[in-house]
Amino acid sequence: MDIEIRTLTEMDIPQAMELKDSLGWNQTPEDWQRFLSLSPEGSFKALRGQELVGTAIAYVFDKVCWIGMTIVKEGCRHQGVGREIMKRCLEHGAQTGCSLIVLDATRDGVSLYGRLGFRPEFLVGTARGKVSRKAGQTDIHPDFNIRRIEVKDLDQIVSLEACALGAVREALLYQLVKQNPGRGFVCNNSEGSLEGFALHRPGFHSHQVGPMIARSDEAAELLVQAAFADLEPSGTTASVMLNVPMNQAGMQKIIRTWGLKVEPRLTRMFRGRKRLHAREDMVYALSGPEKG
Ligand SMILES: CC(C)(COP(=O)(O)OP(=O)(O)OC[C@H]1O[C@@H](n2cnc3c(N)ncnc32)[C@H](O)[C@@H]1OP(=O)(O)O)[C@@H](O)C(=O)NCCC(=O)NCCS
Repeated sequence: MDIEIRTLTEMDIPQAMELKDSLGWNQTPEDWQRFLSLSPEGSFKALRGQELVGTAIAYVFDKVCWIGMTIVKEGCRHQGVGREIMKRCLEHGAQTGCSLIVLDATRDGVSLYGRLGFRPEFLVGTARGKVSRKAGQTDIHPDFNIRRIEVKDLDQIVSLEACALGAVREALLYQLVKQNPGRGFVCNNSEGSLEGFALHRPGFHSHQVGPMIARSDEAAELLVQAAFADLEPSGTTASVMLNVPMNQAGMQKIIRTWGLKVEPRLTRMFRGRKRLHAREDMVYALSGPEKG
């Protein structure tokens, strides 16, 4: 197919949203904007003439290149467009000195990424459904204190996430917190140290809850309660979505108590230096499938 790979810009967001909407994914224009501001040189589009027929974004943090939003328009697939746009993302990773490239692959993408040298690591589940808020829902815990996130918490949450990921993802967390003021909670222990945090934000069809990092299942449970209770006015239900590593048994249990089922929909794949996570057990929910 006669296509050209170019840099994706703000002007492309409406067309990129149309591509994304055709898949029923949860990202919003703000998600595209965040990527464009975090990674203007790593955001790509495939053009057939003037028509946008593909997207992919390579976002770099701490020598890790995360690839997301890889979409090729139906009718243009199986003609090498996905491979071409992925190759541009891989070049961007190489040019920026990344030793590890990571993505969460849908079933459509696994084979293509395998041919590009990615290896599977673990399954990532998607939990989607409705939760209802009851007044005063958050349990009181003798050792933990939950409160709404503030900008002053940013340094501590960046450090906690770095413990879990083995990489510092400062710019993304700063943007998420600043774009969604007050949408999240921190959990501190009785000595005032951070035990966990959870962010949430409006998605296209559901509230996306994540990232959520915690040192224990107890802290995670309180954070989930606080996040869910925050979504809609008391007495109503809210549509939620979470992306949870399937090997995170504690979170699977917490999610089930809310009547949500986690389905394994994505495969974490990597190329290069093995493994992103230093403390996988601390990752209770991802920021989203497009950014891990
Ligand atoms: C995943 C996706 C991006 C792949 O895009 P694509 O343009 O079809 O990718 P390619 O054409 O490069 O490769 C797809 C397959 O077509 C084959 N192919 C490529 N050119 C071909 C040609 N001229 N003739 C026949 N087959 C061809 C490739 O070998 C590959 O086969 P494989 O899946 O067995 O490895 C696309 O399916 C998509 O947008 N899916 C929905 C969104 C999604 O799930 N995205 C992935 C997010 S991680």
